[in-house]
Amino acid sequence: MSTRTTLITGIGSLVTNDPGQGAGPLGLLTDAAVVLDGDTVAWVGPAAQAPAADERFDAEGRALLPGFVDSHAHLVFAGDRTAEFNARMSGQSYSAGGIRTTVAATRAASDAELEANLAGFVREALRQGTTTIECKSGYGLTVEDEARALRIAAQYTPETTYLGAHIVAPEYAEDPAGYVDLVTGEMLDACAPHARWVDVFCEKGAFDGDQARAVLTAGIERGLTPRVHANQLTYGPGVQLAVELGAASADHCTHLTDEDVAALAGSATVATLLPGAEFSTRAEYPSGRRLLDAGAVVALSTDCNPGSSFTSSMAFCIAVAVREMGMTPDEAVWAATAGGAHALRRTDVGTIAVGARADLLLLDAPSHVHLAYRPGVPLTAAVWRAGVREV
Ligand code: NIG
Ligand code: FE
Repeated sequence: MSTRTTLITGIGSLVTNDPGQGAGPLGLLTDAAVVLDGDTVAWVGPAAQAPAADERFDAEGRALLPGFVDSHAHLVFAGDRTAEFNARMSGQSYSAGGIRTTVAATRAASDAELEANLAGFVREALRQGTTTIECKSGYGLTVEDEARALRIAAQYTPETTYLGAHIVAPEYAEDPAGYVDLVTGEMLDACAPHARWVDVFCEKGAFDGDQARAVLTAGIERGLTPRVHANQLTYGPGVQLAVELGAASADHCTHLTDEDVAALAGSATVATLLPGAEFSTRAEYPSGRRLLDAGAVVALSTDCNPGSSFTSSMAFCIAVAVREMGMTPDEAVWAATAGGAHALRRTDVGTIAVGARADLLLLDAPSHVHLAYRPGVPLTAAVWRAGVREV
């Protein structure tokens, strides 16, 4: 049985992220059309040559781009940290210690509460054009609480990440080695069936290079692929470790030596930048320009979490990356779509090409540049996820 086809025509400006299809790295087409067949893109080209379809949607000259791919988020938690944010904006500095507040609230929450929170954030992100979202554990820090976080997350996304090594669980404050044993042993056994990725917060106050290596190696042995919270608050070994272990992504990349930049540029590890974190901790931004000039692949993500970056807005991240991180609007839009797909090693999302998943964001604007040019303005006109009109 054939599926229903939809013709989206009248697209003023189309970002395909397929240089074979249009101009520049974004593969830009003007006066374009796209045909969806069920959950898949079936045709892309000039509107004048578009084939007929069962249904027709007139984009009225607006811009269409791939749905955002948010490759870094922490969405299974309870409570918030308004007071901590308030204190920070009055001069206090951010530290990994605040994570404990959310761990306590998350442990105390029911499954239903955690799931309702997660569903709300996924919906909130979707309304803003995010059609693929990664989700980490890391606010449970017991065998049961980490496994349940991933079980719940797996109902909403295939991009689930085991982050038992977020911080040392409070019960193990005097025995960090014992906690690493738990994370690489019993907790990993319980979590691996629900996770695609393994992550570690490699940072002062969290896990050092040796501990991070132990966590990632154990995950790899269980079939998980590594990604690393690296070089966020201080210089450190996280980026080099990520590259050495073939991680899909090194995330944050705020404090980088020239050697770190060169290592990323010479590797398949994506540098994922999370400007929401620097924004919300009043810290210095990472340099997208430096990484791009060196030849690294750069992704942008929200890092949505209640402590360091409580935003689900990829458009906000694009605007900040352009204003503060030396990226052009084209580079930032690529990083928030195709870059995220690279960071998740996905070829079916982050692009509008024949055979790709039909994940599309129609803007209330004539060009993708407006995402940076009109900061803070809600520009979502329509969103399709796997061919279904969701917004
Ligand atoms: O990516 N860096 C570690 N984890 C989060 C912060 C989590 C929190 O503060 O609750 C981050 O910024
Ligand atoms: Fe994070």
